[in-house]
Order: sequence, then C-alpha cells, then structure tokens
Amino acid sequence: MIRIKDRVFFLDSMDTTYGFMIDEQGHLEHLYYGAKLDETIDYNTLRFQSDFEYGSATSYSKETRGVMLNEKPLEVSSYGKGDYREPTIHLELPDGSRTVDLTYVRHSIAKSLSFQGLPQADKDETLVITLEDKTTNIELELFYTVLEASNMIVRNMRLYNRNDSPIILDKILSMNLDMPNNSYLLSKLDGAWIRERHIHDTPLLYGTVRFDSKKGVSSSNHNPFFVLKEPHTTDEFGRAYGAALIYSGNYETSVEINPHDMLRINMGINSFDFRYKVEAGRSFITPEVLLTYSNKGLNQLTQQFHQCINDHIVSKEFRYKERPIVINNWEATYFDFNEKKLLAIAKQAKRLGIELLCLDDGWFGNRDDDTSSLGDWTYNPKKIKHGLQSLASKINKIGLDFGLWVEPEMVSENSEMYRAHPSWVIRTPHHEPSQGRHQWMLDLTNPDVVEHLKSTLTTLFQSANITYVKWDMNRNISDVYSPHYKADEQGRFHHDYICGLYHVLDHLKTTFPTILFESCSSGGNRFDLGMLYYMPQTWTSDNTDAYERTTIQEGTSLLYPLSTISNHVSGNRSHQTFRHVPLESRFNVACFGILGYELDVTALTPFERRLITRQIEYYKEHRTLFQFGRFSRLHSLQDQNHTVWMVDNEDDAQVLYFQQLFRPNDRIDVIRVTGLESGKYRITNREQAMNIRHFGSLVNRALPIHLRVNSWLHNAIANRYLFPIETVDCTVDSIQLEEQGFILPHPFTGTDHGEHDMILEDFGSRLYRFEKIND
Ligand code: GLA
Repeated sequence: MIRIKDRVFFLDSMDTTYGFMIDEQGHLEHLYYGAKLDETIDYNTLRFQSDFEYGSATSYSKETRGVMLNEKPLEVSSYGKGDYREPTIHLELPDGSRTVDLTYVRHSIAKSLSFQGLPQADKDETLVITLEDKTTNIELELFYTVLEASNMIVRNMRLYNRNDSPIILDKILSMNLDMPNNSYLLSKLDGAWIRERHIHDTPLLYGTVRFDSKKGVSSSNHNPFFVLKEPHTTDEFGRAYGAALIYSGNYETSVEINPHDMLRINMGINSFDFRYKVEAGRSFITPEVLLTYSNKGLNQLTQQFHQCINDHIVSKEFRYKERPIVINNWEATYFDFNEKKLLAIAKQAKRLGIELLCLDDGWFGNRDDDTSSLGDWTYNPKKIKHGLQSLASKINKIGLDFGLWVEPEMVSENSEMYRAHPSWVIRTPHHEPSQGRHQWMLDLTNPDVVEHLKSTLTTLFQSANITYVKWDMNRNISDVYSPHYKADEQGRFHHDYICGLYHVLDHLKTTFPTILFESCSSGGNRFDLGMLYYMPQTWTSDNTDAYERTTIQEGTSLLYPLSTISNHVSGNRSHQTFRHVPLESRFNVACFGILGYELDVTALTPFERRLITRQIEYYKEHRTLFQFGRFSRLHSLQDQNHTVWMVDNEDDAQVLYFQQLFRPNDRIDVIRVTGLESGKYRITNREQAMNIRHFGSLVNRALPIHLRVNSWLHNAIANRYLFPIETVDCTVDSIQLEEQGFILPHPFTGTDHGEHDMILEDFGSRLYRFEKIND
C-alpha cells in the first residue's frame, strides 16, 4: 500500500515500511526502511536533523546555511550541490557543466506500468515522483512499486532531456538508498567458471566498496545482487537488506560509508565505459532493482525474493508450471554423435522415466569441435541424416519431448555466416578482434543483426516440434565498438547490446510462448533476473560435481528460487573435478531445483539404471515441492562438514543432509529444523542404495555370503545388487525439531557397525521426508 500524507510517502508491504519525504528545499529525503510502521508514527522522529554549518562543510544555498546535502539521507543524488558521496546521476549539459539539482514537482500513481524493451517485475500500482531542475531542463521520474506479499520494493528511474540540444549521461543508476550504518557485513555471490556464486561476507569500512561487471554480461565473477546484514544475522535470525538488479549486462554496485556513518547503496548500469547521448526531448530508462528487508534472518529474505521472482519475474506461461526432466547429451557425447546414438540415448532415457531430450552443441553446420559453424543454424546431415523435424518426431515417438541447443549471439570465423557478413562481428577499426573459445560475437547493436537473428531463429524453432531451447553464450565481449554508431555515440554500446538481445528474446518469447527457454552462459556466467524474465530457468554451472554444487546451489539459492536452478546428475567421475561422488548424492543435490541427467545412459550398469529409475520416480512424486516449494538453508551441529537444505510447503518437507568428508568416530549429528508449521511430523528417509563394490574388502562383513574381493562374482553382484541403507521412520513434534532438532542415526564407526547405523562415505548424503500428520 502506498500512503501519502502532505509531503511524506510511506510504502507498506506485508511486513515492511519504506518511507521518504519532500524536504524543505524540495529534495527527496529518505526516512526509513525496516519492519512495518503504523500510521501514527511522527515522521519528524525519523529525520536526521542538522542545521549547523561546521568546519569545511558545504551548505546547499546561502539562504539555507546549515542544510548540507552531504549529511542527508537521499532517495536520489546528483553531482555539484555539496553531496560528495557516490552520485546516482552524473551528466554533462549542453554547455559542458555537470551540476544538476533535482527537486520535487509532482507525484502520481500509475497502473500496470511497463517499460518497453526492458525486463521487469509485473506491477499493479506504481508511485511516480517527478523531480526537475528547471534551470538545466532535466526532469527525472522515480518509480516505486510495492509487491506486498513478497515484501518487495521495485525501483528505477527515467530521465528526460528537456533541452534543445543533447546531453551526455556519464552515469545513471537505478537507485540510491541512504541509511545509518549499523556495522553491516556485505554478502555477495562471487566466482568464476565452474565455481560460480560462492557466498562471501566482507566487513564494510569507511570509504567505498564497489563491485561490477565489465564483461558485457552480468558474469559469474559477481552476481548483480547483494545482502547487507548485521554481523550476528544468520539464516534463522537477524536483520538484513537485499537488492538485486533486473539486468544482464555491465552493472555496478557500490556501498559507501561516509565519516558520519551514513551508508549509501547504489546499483545500476555500470558507469564504466558508459557515455550515453540523450537527444533533445528524449529520455533514458534504467533497469529495475528489487529491494527487500527481513528481520527474521536470511532464509526469510531468500523466501521473499523467491516468491517475488516466481510471482512477478518469470513469465506467466511458466509460473508454477512443472518443468520436464531432461536428458542432455553434452557430457555423454560432446561433439561425437549421430542419429543412431541419439535415439539409443532417448530410448534408454525413456525407460528410466526421463521426459525430454535436449540435443546439445554440434548438430549444425560442420561443427565437430568448437572451431567452426556458429551462426550456421542448419542441421548437419552427416550427424542428423533426415533433419531436425524427422529426428524430433522419432524422439517424440519414443515418448520424449525434443529440445535444442543454440548459441545465437556468436559467430565462428569458419562459418558461412561470417563469410557472408564479416561486418557483423564486434570489432574496432584498428584491431583484429580477440577470441574466446575460437569465437567472435555478433554486434547486437546493429538492427540488421537483430532482425537476422529474429528471422533465423523463428524459422529454426518452427522447423521441428521443439518444446525446449537451451540458449548458450560462451564468451565475454571484447573489442567494444560498432560502425553503426558515430564516434561520440560509442559509449552506448554495452547497454544497446543488451537491449538488442532483449529485443530478440522478447520476439521469441511472444512468438513461441510455450517453448521453455533455459538460459546458459558457460553455465552461470549470465544468471540474472534480466535473463529470467525471458527464460524461466538457467543452467546453473558447467560444474556438475554434486559436492561443488552444494556450494554453488547454496549461493544461488540466496536470491534465485529453485524453479530457476537447473541441475543435472552427471557421470562418474566428474568431468570438471575428477571426483567420485555417489550417484545417490548426485541426485539428492540435483533434485533441489529442476532435475536433469547428463551422462551416457546407454552405458549404465543395471545397478545404476535401477537407482536412476527410483530417483526419477521419487522426483516426479515430489516435483512440485522440489521446483516451487519454500527453500531454507538449515544447519546441523556439525555445520562445517555438512550442507543441510529444506524445501517445504505447508505440510510436507524434504531435507537434504550432505556430508563432505567422513570423520571417524564422530558425534551423532542433529539437524535443527525451523520454519515448519506446528504439529506432528512423520520422518522417513528416501530409499537409497549403496554399491557393494565400494565396500572393498569390508564386503564380507556387510553380506552374509563370502565373496572374493574383485572376483567375477563380486563384480557381477555389485552391478546388480542394491545394498539398502538404514531405515528411518519416526514421528516427532515441530517444537522438538526447532528446539533440539532431528537426531540422525548413529554414524558408521569403523569396521563393525550396527544394523541401524548410517554408513555415509565421503560426499554421502540422505534425503528425509517430513510429512505432517493430521490429527
Ligand atoms: C557450454 C555449456 C555446456 C554445453 C557447451 C556446448 O559450455 O555451458 O552446457 O552446452 O557449452 O558447447
């Protein structure tokens, strides 16, 4: 709800209030962001008063001596009137001056506002505040939307140039938030290829912490998202603010603490390598930021983001729509496949219960490795004899849906497309363009390229029964320049590239509303809310090692809901880490989100086939919960060595318990389970199995018969026999779960073990179901 009284604005969500006012000089002064305030509050008690010009301070004007913008919490900040912190806007006016002073003119409420060409949250009512600098003819609209149920504030801005000549924007971010510093820690998601989105906490000191992307994509180095939390805040308790940008290109975020302990947060398009000419009478819109607050710990913050993304970012067609279980041939075949191999994979996948085959890289042009053919989106008859339509219909006859991999933003030097359109490659007039994975990038600022992609991809996706598309993007932008722009317009390249991409995606989303698009960028190099607006799920990481995935998916879960996190069970050993992780653990981790398989299913042992069949049955039974349930990071007493996750709806929960390294003769572990509805719960564990080959010479203590280790018989039994794990079946109370926790079975303690002991090898795991018992 938006409450407006006199000069004061309060934005109320279910549990939070965000407040600001028009101050005596017309600036927008921030008042409050936190737990919900009632209407009787005296807003004056929320103000930081200062009316004394001290030492070297700059007063706003001679009439208002003592009013210092540098001391004020502001909703937007420009340069030149005494606010020396990081500005939200920095621009050059037609006369070369850069000072802008934006003050209130009017406000209004807009209904179902949408910003053409940009990804954005679905909105109902938006508060629009218009500010103006009459002397420089700059007008600025600030947009505020409250998404009440998810406790979210959506912010962005639009700047109008009301001059007769162009102005140059050197910086225009999406939002500014000033608050008193409270010894916050900055939590962010950092990483690199196959090591994406690890959570890192940084203490904030006086000065500015800035992180960004200059790669042309949001990038796996730092996700366009952060959390500010008080030092004692945990997943369960404490105060935290979160902000996420709905954008896929270069962005920046800065958190600044000035010497008076005023904290300033900025977020938006990166001002580095950004110089945008706004012609007379034209405007510039910034991408939206989602802002949220929780005083009940990080799980609550996470759940607010998840609800908001599921309800307001993901497209309506796929909102809460169950996603298929995919078999992807990449790690099974790489470039080496033909129709026969694909059909064999499809048949076996169908028997296992899989629902869709995604044909990955290598089906087009002459692509047998990564040195050629990007841009030539026609099938390779050497691999797919009768074409995509015929292949798709054969796959459909087997009983699977068909999906296709594409990487449309790229071109190989060795391709028909490059030979026909060499000028479409991003390059400067002076240099041979750099390459990444032997490929160049297409200039999506050029409307001809955009139109070409729209028509080629439309034809391609219409050419067969395609219900799923994996959209890849395997390098970052270099050699930034476009012949399409004049010399003084080159600074718009990065933003226009992303707008060109969004334009293509918008066209495809509208033309093919039922195709499920999965965004991929060497895994998670462009996992952001901008892409999720067009594509409801993202290939989380090229790293499918389940142990690595516990860290990657846990970081990802801070912001992104399970419905957007695509995970595959891959082969043994991991192609990324050479690690062996038990097949049951590979599933137990991958099922937290969108499940798929990416291994040669035609080469499975009977043991593996039976395990996978059971896994898929289990996933299908609980799919809605795994894809759309409420996610929490839980903790066990042995926290450092374990990952514990829960996904629940009102009366059903699944809890993952994943161990890193086995520790001998360790304590019995206990999981604290918080956040469930109160009542009684029956706890059971998923029926898992172990392979007796992994018992080595201990096999003769585990089985009643005697086997010679590594004998033919040992191996034959190992290939078929499912050695059952311990069984858990008990009934507990939710208070007991919150206060003391769920006590796990006694762990294996060397050589001998009891019947009910839990034998967890390195990277072993369990999946528990907590089912509410209705009295
Ligand atoms: C990227 C993707 C992989 C796979 C390959 C194909 O690395 O992340 O999943 O599609 O490209 O070249």
